[in-house]
Amino acid sequence: MDMNRQAIAPSYVLGCKELDNDHEVLLAIVATLRKALREHRGQSHLDKVVIELAAYCDAHFENEQDLMEKWAYPDAVAHAAEHERARHRLEQLSVFIRQGDRDSAKQALRYLEDWQVNHVAGTDRPLAEHLNKRRPHHK
Ligand SMILES: [Fe+2]
Ligand SMILES: [Fe+2]
Repeated sequence: MDMNRQAIAPSYVLGCKELDNDHEVLLAIVATLRKALREHRGQSHLDKVVIELAAYCDAHFENEQDLMEKWAYPDAVAHAAEHERARHRLEQLSVFIRQGDRDSAKQALRYLEDWQVNHVAGTDRPLAEHLNKRRPHHK
């Protein structure tokens, strides 16, 4: 997959390598999908990118949720509920892509892009701080 690396905003960097790496990859896949829609790429390419996005998202959410459990994170339930909302929207995005409804897909993608920025800056950040405190040698 061709990755669209882009400059990462400082508010987006959490100082927790494990999470930061995942977020960077997720941003790159989202950028690839945005570009594919803009450039009217073929259906099989879009299908492939959206499947990759869903798989990576699922793995990332699962990893964060495992970490929250393992390290007794107090806001785990609310955090997981935010993941669930994104997962739901991602499912809708996949359906729009499969149906060839690219305008709706663009809207769903816009929602996910905003969600991701807000979630990382506001919700993943306190998790990263908690993890860095609990496992200081693991940053
Ligand atoms: Fe999260
Ligand atoms: Fe995250």
